[in-house]
Amino acid sequence: MNKTKPPAKPGIIQPPSVDRPTDAGRRKALLAGLGAAGGAAAAGLIAPARALADPANLPPNVADWSKVLGPGVDAAPYGVPSKFEKTVIRRHVDWLTATPESSVNFTPLYALDGMVTPNGLCFERHHGGVAEVIPDDYRLMIHGMVDRPLVFTYQDLKRFPPQSRFYFLECAANGGMEWRGAQLNGVQFTHGMVHCVQYTGVPLRTLLEEAGVKPKAKWLLVEGGDSAGMNRSLPLDKALDDCMVVYSMNGERLRAEQGYPIRLVVPGFEGNMWVKWLRRIEVGDGAWMAREETSKYTDLMPDGRARRFTWEMDAKSVITSPCPELPCKQKGPQVIKGLAWSGRGKVARVDVTVDGGRNWHQARLEEPILSKCLTRFYLDGWSWDGNPAYLQSRVIDDTGYVQPEMAALQAVRGVNSIYHNNAIQTWRINPTGEVENVRLA
Ligand code: MTE
Ligand code: CO
Repeated sequence: MNKTKPPAKPGIIQPPSVDRPTDAGRRKALLAGLGAAGGAAAAGLIAPARALADPANLPPNVADWSKVLGPGVDAAPYGVPSKFEKTVIRRHVDWLTATPESSVNFTPLYALDGMVTPNGLCFERHHGGVAEVIPDDYRLMIHGMVDRPLVFTYQDLKRFPPQSRFYFLECAANGGMEWRGAQLNGVQFTHGMVHCVQYTGVPLRTLLEEAGVKPKAKWLLVEGGDSAGMNRSLPLDKALDDCMVVYSMNGERLRAEQGYPIRLVVPGFEGNMWVKWLRRIEVGDGAWMAREETSKYTDLMPDGRARRFTWEMDAKSVITSPCPELPCKQKGPQVIKGLAWSGRGKVARVDVTVDGGRNWHQARLEEPILSKCLTRFYLDGWSWDGNPAYLQSRVIDDTGYVQPEMAALQAVRGVNSIYHNNAIQTWRINPTGEVENVRLA
């Protein structure tokens, strides 16, 4: 995920095409009774979506779907979204990676409400494709500086007292393409390497206590069972604090692409450490200096040295509506919606500006506000007058940390970084209502 190629602007995603039956004759007859709505639409007083509606389905008529029996139970034994939502999918950027096996796709943040990401829309990041682990053959080994090396089966892990917790996972490379300027025209692509899920599993501390960690131990090596064998060093104090070994997300078993049957959860830390298809935990007294913490996931600073072990995800926020995928369809009142999060704790406050930072307005935060979790915010009272507007959001977390402007971030980190871009994002609303990713000087 560290390739930089020429800027490309994947187009704005079109709204779902409407799959509707056509019955021109009947419609013509009904159009006759349309006077009021038709006139208002022509005068531009009705939102385009409503103007597209088939009058045959509108009051006082009885809509098509009210006249027939629908499919019965079990028509879809495992439920899927409405066909009218078929454009709401994970998407990738063609030029970003050479192969789909070592690649990433993005969560459609513009289409989501609340703080939870549905399982089928959680972005995927794989270094060697999705491992198909057979649950009966699954084993987790804990060894190294322990009193009792242990091997757990999948069923063993489910016998421990479980706990459920909501956490966000953000890839350190989220926004990595935006360091030198606005590049990708969509919140799905600029910020979509994040998801927020309720995990169920066992505290890692419980398993380590079962094995008995030797007093001199300081680090763990956590390793995946995929073909990439992805591994990272994890400080023991973090492992004993809030890490989890999980088998469920949002109430059901992990999806294969999220590490079925077992993944590691490392709250607030960069996504790379959340090892999927977890197969081995080695306990030791020093960091392993694995590939993913030396050659990758370090930040090259202006003086030529690199920051290492930058695990915590700094506080970040973004407006998810309006955004390039959700243009302003009409003037007048608009609810500005967004997401904020911090790898260090809770979101304390979010401010929103519509004039590029001249005036800031405190946003309304939606409960629950949980530590190391996405928090939904709204600005309710804004009315768009049709002039260009520059929308930004800025989060402050409960440590007092304030999300920086890109200029401030670059003043410290330079322009060689890929990871840990948490700069304030600007969306420009054009007089047409279209929304663009821009960088304010
Ligand atoms: N674990 C294994 N075994 N293999 C991987 O390729 N990718 C890591 C991490 N864990 C990876 C892995 C990276 S870089 C990220 S950002 C997260 O998983 C992505 O998790 P997700 O696919 O559930 O979104
Ligand atoms: Co990642």
